[in-house]
Amino acid sequence: MKKRIGVLLSGRGSNFEALAESIASGRIPNAEIAIVVSNRDGAPGTDRAKARGIATRVIPSKGLERETYDREVVAVLNEHKVDLVCLAGYMRLLSPYFVAAFPNRILNIHPSLLPSFPGLESQRQALEYGVQFAGCTVHFVDENLDAGPIVLQAVLPVNDNDTEDTLSARILEQEHRIYSEAVRIVLEDRYKIQGRRVIRTT
Ligand code: GAR
Repeated sequence: MKKRIGVLLSGRGSNFEALAESIASGRIPNAEIAIVVSNRDGAPGTDRAKARGIATRVIPSKGLERETYDREVVAVLNEHKVDLVCLAGYMRLLSPYFVAAFPNRILNIHPSLLPSFPGLESQRQALEYGVQFAGCTVHFVDENLDAGPIVLQAVLPVNDNDTEDTLSARILEQEHRIYSEAVRIVLEDRYKIQGRRVIRTT
């Protein structure tokens, strides 16, 4: 049976597209994207999903208390029998209710080497801090911001002439690569979690 992935996004959707592409090409075997949920109406990511014939749902979050909102999202994910939730540019913190509904079954991609530069505009934070290496992180999600055990990271050098745009573009390429790799590791159960460490078993 194919593993069913639910993707949550708020915007552009390039990480969603990379996951969909990896599934189509077999880099992530035996999986399908069952549903794409956006908390923002008009998110380009939902158009990209529709273009691929993937079911989408817009659930506007504005004005709703966090757990009330999350109960709606979890209900939709359950309705689509989702095994793994992938946050792909989903700009919301998850409530303890949501995290408990999918224990160790929620992944996020973040454009920095966590725990450095969580939150917004991480690439700009990295440049302003003056770090010489930047990167991205795929991690399990808990109720804290950009926290949870790290599955994979990619590191790249910051060039003297980098701007926020050039650095973000190079990080994004790595995001697309390691997100697919991490999803494969998790779906194939080739890891164990020891404390905060994710140890590969094969
Ligand atoms: C990506 O860079 C992702 O790492 C970041 O938002 C962007 C979404 O792009 N996520 C976060 O900052 C989460 N804290 P995309 O919509 O093209 O995938």
